[in-house]
Amino acid sequence: MDKLIIEGGQPLHGVITVNGSKNAALPILLASILLEGAQDFDNVPNLRDIRTTLKLLQLLGCQCRHEGHTVHVEPGPLVPEAPYDLVRTMRASVLCLGPLLARLGRARVALPGGCAIGARPVDQHLKGLEKMGATFTLEEGNIIGSCSRLHGAEISLDMPTVGGTENLIMAAALAEGTTLLCNAAREPEIIDLANFLNSCGARIKGQGTSTIEIEGVTSLKGSRYAIMPDRIEAGTFLACVGITGGRLVLQNCPVDALEAVFRTLQNMGMRFETTDEGLVASMDGDLRATDLRTQPYPGFPTDMQAQVMAMMCLAHGVSLVDERIFENRFMHALELVRMGADIQLTGHTALIRGVDHLNGAPVMASDLRASASLIVAGLAAHGTTQIRRIYHLDRGYERIEEKLSAVGARIRREHEDD
Ligand code: EPZ
Repeated sequence: MDKLIIEGGQPLHGVITVNGSKNAALPILLASILLEGAQDFDNVPNLRDIRTTLKLLQLLGCQCRHEGHTVHVEPGPLVPEAPYDLVRTMRASVLCLGPLLARLGRARVALPGGCAIGARPVDQHLKGLEKMGATFTLEEGNIIGSCSRLHGAEISLDMPTVGGTENLIMAAALAEGTTLLCNAAREPEIIDLANFLNSCGARIKGQGTSTIEIEGVTSLKGSRYAIMPDRIEAGTFLACVGITGGRLVLQNCPVDALEAVFRTLQNMGMRFETTDEGLVASMDGDLRATDLRTQPYPGFPTDMQAQVMAMMCLAHGVSLVDERIFENRFMHALELVRMGADIQLTGHTALIRGVDHLNGAPVMASDLRASASLIVAGLAAHGTTQIRRIYHLDRGYERIEEKLSAVGARIRREHEDD
């Protein structure tokens, strides 16, 4: 397993290009199952989760070619099985359920277990698909789904689930009749998925709002599509320059998808400017405490909570974090305390009292965004921070240590024997 070694205290200066979005690419790549004919994707990030998704597509019967940031998918005769050994490494594999039922009328997908941040149930996915005519049984941990042809339905989600909305949009794209999704998630990645499907001939309206209407069509044709930039990767780099000072230019930054993050970071003393070069981010004085509550989009994204909590550890004053999306998304807090942070956890809230400085220490990554949080903290800590188990990090960040080194961070990757 690899680890990262960071010598803190270097302000960041320079230009970083933001990659394509992991959380847009995963559903969009799996939507290839719906298509007749080949499909090319540009701006696909080169991440573990992307490689896992392409492995799943191959298991399902598609031929995939991955060169740099381009992916070519050739759908073949579909094999509707997503095995546990693969699903357990990436929960988002469950997003093949809707497309398989829409194309083949049957699917055998391992029920995703929970993960470090929570139980992560998929009841909304199944309830919505049942309304469209699917029936499910659970056998040996596998969801066994079948239907004749899915039909349109009016579906009200109990909560604006991102994955649930994505699965149901993909299923409805080829269903007979029209589907109305109420209380749908509004994330930018949902818009990207709907725009991709519309580029293949789907008839989807309302993406980005809480009510999405999908008029089923009989077939979808492959085309070429570029994945949107990754708002969470971009936000992570904003946290890095916020905690270390300096000035970063982010190219391909999805500015419109980051409004809640900008508001919070401006409250903490960051300054942003959109220029021809890209988005310019810098600190205006010292970090100031603030409060944040994670919410479905367009609220503050839960995927940025850990990174901003690291900044709060060095902010003047007391900050309050209220994590309302997942039930166990404070694993990073325990590691930040090892670095000298003053954090008190009570249920889904964390109280962070700013301290004068953090001290480098050996710490352990527990999940993707917790890993990012430890990088943010390590960049500002006095001394050396070692972050172990960074396979979590590699799921969602491409060569982050190279991107940060290029703008002045003293960070390197070392291989560590298991
Ligand atoms: C997506 O996960 C993202 N993953 C997550 O990003 C992100 O944190 C999350 O949305 C929230 O924004 C991908 O897009 C691949 P949800 P997802 O379904 O779809 C509950 C990262 O770091 N729920 O919106 O699994 C669920 O328990 C990852 O990149 C049900 O109860 O999130 C959770 O509390 C982590 N029943 C809440 O809804 C369901 O059927 C939000 O989950 C579905 C969800």
